[in-house]
Amino acid sequence: MTFNESKTKENLARAFAGLCQDGARYQFIAKSAMSEGYAYISDIMKELAKNKMAHASTLYRVMIEKIKKSKDNVSIEAGYPFEDHILKTSLIDSAEIEEYQGKNVYPHFAKIADDEGFGDIERLFTLISEVGLVNALKLREMAVKFESKSLYKSTKKVLWVCSNCGHREESKEAWSTCPLCSYPRGYVIFPKDN
Ligand SMILES: [Fe+2]
Repeated sequence: MTFNESKTKENLARAFAGLCQDGARYQFIAKSAMSEGYAYISDIMKELAKNKMAHASTLYRVMIEKIKKSKDNVSIEAGYPFEDHILKTSLIDSAEIEEYQGKNVYPHFAKIADDEGFGDIERLFTLISEVGLVNALKLREMAVKFESKSLYKSTKKVLWVCSNCGHREESKEAWSTCPLCSYPRGYVIFPKDN
């Protein structure tokens, strides 16, 4: 089967469009989080948005390689979520969407790619679904912490960083007011190396 005749071509375009929209939604949530005073959540959502755009970029590159020099648009028919980006609901909504994509959509696309003889694309869909499931866990954990107002607490000592001045401190709970710049707790972020 040629790539142009395949279902995988459409799935690649659908996945690319979906990832771009996920990336945009995550940037909206990051902005909402910042305006509500949660640099911590904003920082993580920006990281997840960056992941989505990296996945989109990879699929875009693969599409260009596969369609060669065709200038024809690739048509798709797909449904995409339009969720409110209020923090209270958007974290859990995002976790559910990631789970659905990771457990259903990408494995389905991967199976079709494999059946159609595009093992390289099957591998990419599988890797994307794996990252999505890890991100779903991160989102769910953050949603629970946000709901229970324990975003700035940990059962063990972890490193907290002030996103304004760079002050760093290892403790079970982040400061209420930064001892260096006096900015409030909302500027605290949770570094990736924890
Ligand atoms: Fe500070």
